[in-house]
Amino acid sequence: MASRAALRLGVLISGSGTNLQAIIDAIERGEVNAQIAVVVSNRPGAPGLERARRGGFPTSVIDHRRFSSREEFDRALAAELKARQVALVVCAGFMRVLTAVMVREFPNRIMNIHPSLLPAFRGLDAQKAALDYGVRLAGCTVHFVDEGVDEGPIIIQAAVPVYPADTDDDLRRRILEQEHRIYPRAIGLFEQGRLTVAGRRVLIGDLPGPRPGRYLISPPLDG
Ligand code: GAR
Repeated sequence: MASRAALRLGVLISGSGTNLQAIIDAIERGEVNAQIAVVVSNRPGAPGLERARRGGFPTSVIDHRRFSSREEFDRALAAELKARQVALVVCAGFMRVLTAVMVREFPNRIMNIHPSLLPAFRGLDAQKAALDYGVRLAGCTVHFVDEGVDEGPIIIQAAVPVYPADTDDDLRRRILEQEHRIYPRAIGLFEQGRLTVAGRRVLIGDLPGPRPGRYLISPPLDG
């Protein structure tokens, strides 16, 4: 058993919440020493809210349409997260751009997952953009949130091949599967105090050395 107090997470969602579920599952398996202090959605009907309620986690809806600016919305969001004593904010399919109000309230304490190998394909519909562009490798990125959009220092990335017959949905699902693996890992590294931000780079303490031959080439060299 970990002797540290569990890291208090505030998970922000807008949609189905499969990343939220992956985080809940990793905590339940004992892989991450964290607890969900609150799940906040900016959309009242987000299916992820139901997931959170089923799991017995506190939820909060902060409907962005009730606010006249992004800053005002962020002030309400920050107040809710602070009231729940959140130590790490986890954007999990949260489709709002955060402003300096939130970023300054939680410096290097907000993570986001984006369905591309950043800095490629920032913004919406990244999977479709990757497919349309014709890349052979796509993927996902967990990064710290700064004042740019999909721009903060990168913590972990996973690459997946793109196959010729892929539809948007095929690629989205292949990427999502890896999202569910890397997001809990990033949160675990943070909780263990192993992440240090140095400019654009995130230094990770106690990583195993390089392992030769572990490359993903798409299409493969054989065949
Ligand atoms: C995920 O693919 C996530 O990377 C993406 O939304 C999906 C949410 O799925 N996020 C973004 O595009 C943020 N710019 P989920 O609600 O099932 O976790």
